[in-house]
Amino acid sequence: MSKAQATGPAKPSGTWDPHQYLRYAHNRSRPFQDLLARIPRLPHHHQPRITDLGCGPGNVTITMFDRWPTARITGIDNSEEMLKAATETAPPPSLESTASLDFDLRDVAEWTPSEPHDLIVSNATLQWLPHHDQLFPRWINGLHPAGTLAFQVPGNFTAPSHSLLHEVAARPRWRHRLADITRGYVHIHTPGRYLEQLTTLGCTVDAWETTYVHVLQGDDPVLDWVKGTALRPVLSALEDPREQDEFLTEYGALLRDAYPRGPAGTLFPFRRVFAIATRANA
Ligand SMILES: C[S@@+](CC[C@H](N)C(=O)[O-])C[C@H]1O[C@@H](n2cnc3c(N)ncnc32)[C@H](O)[C@@H]1O
Repeated sequence: MSKAQATGPAKPSGTWDPHQYLRYAHNRSRPFQDLLARIPRLPHHHQPRITDLGCGPGNVTITMFDRWPTARITGIDNSEEMLKAATETAPPPSLESTASLDFDLRDVAEWTPSEPHDLIVSNATLQWLPHHDQLFPRWINGLHPAGTLAFQVPGNFTAPSHSLLHEVAARPRWRHRLADITRGYVHIHTPGRYLEQLTTLGCTVDAWETTYVHVLQGDDPVLDWVKGTALRPVLSALEDPREQDEFLTEYGALLRDAYPRGPAGTLFPFRRVFAIATRANA
């Protein structure tokens, strides 16, 4: 098992906080496990080549060794903070000696497979890439025959957690700095559209959506959740901690009304879209 390491040209986003993101690791990793469960047998089952696009802190990346203990896995991300956390994530101790795990600091939009892949996977990342569907031909061409592209993207951009974020950012106090940031970062498609796009590229496609009902505990749990994801660009743009607090106070008050605490806790419905495209066997 080679040691986890990060290489490649720096392209930092500087907006991620792995510690905050990992606070909901249990809830966030379940869609990835649901995605993996539907991936068919890989062409080189005994030592598959796998790349994880937007691997974040690597905690879901390493779970792929449970299914493919001899895999050669690379995680790609453009956040130095996330990759630093990833290189500190211990791989499972019981791996075969032929397995490897490394991390590469780069922009997913610029990545092209340098060798044929058995699996290209991406969890909760492609929503940050405008026109990610235009990258599908490049990725599908980088697969072995019968290789698979599998991804999951959040589909909750019309939920109160997002619409209220836009509402506060559009207020006179904030809009000159935040309107551009919160506008137009919805780049995902319906499962049906992904299915048609990937079928056109010669793949057999399984696409679906699921709404998870997360049960969150504590005060302001939805605010705490989005601090790890959708709020990252806003908090980075504001920088001044006092301004950040003011924004969070305004936004948090609206979230409390939209997501009241009930007998089980605070229910946070979260829609996610999945697609698995398997290239034709030659
Ligand atoms: C919500 S996190 C998901 C992390 C991980 N896949 C998981 O499931 O826990 C999104 C990740 O995508 C990365 N990301 C966003 N845009 C990217 C890009 N253009 N290139 C590389 N990574 C990107 C972020 O740095 C972040 O680590």
